[in-house]
Amino acid sequence: MLAAPINPSDINRIEGVYPIGPSPPAVGGNEGVGEVIAVAEGVQNLAVNDWVIPAKAGLGTWRTYVVKEETDWCKVRKDVPIEYAATAFINPCTALRMLEDFVPLSEGDVVVQNGATSIVGQCVIQLAHLRGLETTNIIRDRPGVEEVKRRLKVLGASGIFTENELDPKELPAFFKDAKLGLNCVGGNTATSVMKLLRENGTMVTYGGMSKKPITVSTSAMIFKGIELKGFWLQKWVNNHPPADLAKMIDYILGLVHDKKLVYLTEQLPFIEFRKALENALGMHGSSIKQVLTFT
Ligand SMILES: NC(=O)c1ccc[n+]([C@@H]2O[C@H](COP(=O)([O-])OP(=O)(O)OC[C@H]3O[C@@H](n4cnc5c(N)ncnc54)[C@H](OP(=O)(O)O)[C@@H]3O)[C@@H](O)[C@H]2O)c1
Repeated sequence: MLAAPINPSDINRIEGVYPIGPSPPAVGGNEGVGEVIAVAEGVQNLAVNDWVIPAKAGLGTWRTYVVKEETDWCKVRKDVPIEYAATAFINPCTALRMLEDFVPLSEGDVVVQNGATSIVGQCVIQLAHLRGLETTNIIRDRPGVEEVKRRLKVLGASGIFTENELDPKELPAFFKDAKLGLNCVGGNTATSVMKLLRENGTMVTYGGMSKKPITVSTSAMIFKGIELKGFWLQKWVNNHPPADLAKMIDYILGLVHDKKLVYLTEQLPFIEFRKALENALGMHGSSIKQVLTFT
């Protein structure tokens, strides 16, 4: 392996609260990038020096070496930074699928999301911006919030509000007209996403960072006709041929190569895994995506 991130679902698997996972003892980590150092006889589509990422979850990427079947890997381009190759799969692809698969969106349409500082959130902002869509973004109140807002604005965010700043009654109509809402937090901020949806809008839930349930008002269901859906990338991968995944990763890494998709990561050598895990767990406050490096 060259590099592998620590994602919230990796932590959830270790905590035993994720619906699927390997039986212990097992190696953590579900995505990352590796370099092929040897291939067995009969392997046709991979060669020494190729870069590969896991083609499915559960491979156990937090390790220096791994031996798996050819079909467990997806070959990726090598002309992008390793931290992007290591993180191209789970979060950017989730952002892309949620923009593509739920409601037809056209230029000028509004998407509202919470958890906008996450890698998924940052990708949603940029992929939406590339499609001429507007995004309303809800972030946590936390130290350094003005700098965070500035950064998301540069990525193309149309509106950015902290949870406390957001009073849907006070907002201009534009911000209350979202066709699609994306929720990875739950609790009150999921309610805020629903309040900013237009009539018959759809909210897709794909995470539960606050560990709080979603409360839906009766009027949102009856009078506004809000639709609630869920997304799980693993299900998408299970239901699509490997070529579709390869095409999607190519698209994402093409944007990275052209500097049209950027996000911050912090790289730490594998030996500092404890610090990286503490950062990922938020034990030292909000942190950017932690990426373990093995070289
Ligand atoms: N369903 C799927 O297939 C799928 C696929 C990919 C990701 N996901 C989910 O998407 C979400 C984002 O993943 P990621 O890897 O992009 O995240 P990430 O980059 O690791 O960032 C974590 C995000 O969670 C926020 N957060 C952390 N603790 C929180 C809390 N207690 N209350 C509210 N917000 C909190 C952080 O806000 P601050 O910046 O303010 O700290 C940050 O926005 C996760 O829930 C993940 O499980 C789901």
